[in-house]
Amino acid sequence: MSIAIIGGSGLSKLPEVKINDEIIIDTPWGKPSAPIIIGEINKTSIIFLPRHGNDHAIPPHKINYRANIWALNKINASKIISVNTVGGITELMNPETIIVPDQIIDYTSGRKSTFYEKDLEGVKHIDFTMPYAETLRDQLIKAAQAIKLKIFTKGVYGVTQGPRLETAAEISRLERDGCDVVGMTGMPEASLARELGLDYACCGLIVNWAAGKSDMPITMEIIEKNLKNGLNNINLLIAGVLRNFN
Ligand code: HPA
Repeated sequence: MSIAIIGGSGLSKLPEVKINDEIIIDTPWGKPSAPIIIGEINKTSIIFLPRHGNDHAIPPHKINYRANIWALNKINASKIISVNTVGGITELMNPETIIVPDQIIDYTSGRKSTFYEKDLEGVKHIDFTMPYAETLRDQLIKAAQAIKLKIFTKGVYGVTQGPRLETAAEISRLERDGCDVVGMTGMPEASLARELGLDYACCGLIVNWAAGKSDMPITMEIIEKNLKNGLNNINLLIAGVLRNFN
């Protein structure tokens, strides 16, 4: 049993990973985003899958979330840490900081979001009251404390369909709904993991102020700059979790 990392934008490779194998898996739901890396970081085994593919070619609404989660389960991942870039909505959600959200609001549409497709018999209505695994969230929070990294330890992740960014009015609505950050890749990944009984938690890297939350337009240059600056902390946090995992 190993911990799996699903890498988001900017994280199509894990630094310092010693790669032992790359597995190409076919699933009943099609192909995962990329071959799955089996490796080690500081002697702790790790599984890695870049959500957007190796060349970052798969946009959020085209990701085969079912194949990805199915494949990770098939190769015995026991827990999944998902790295997602997000925009900051509420006051403190500054770019370059990290949030480990504790709640989700799903605004996506038309995504294939369940493994129970064929018939009603055998459908499991998963309990999704707490969408993330508290034990794994706790491990992330403790790892951040151990390396003195300031992160937000809870908050609501609003997941939009994309690939366009939101209007200012949409972000105001998300804020009224209680969302702290907004991104495009948090769902249905989290609920699919729950359907298979996998522990799943999210590490959200804030890479821009959401629409209407700053005077500046949202440009790819700003997003990429904040992403580059924030990724180092994501890598430190992952390394910290792995240190405590065995
Ligand atoms: N909106 C939606 N998804 C995002 C954003 C945003 O502002 N930033 C990064 N992913």
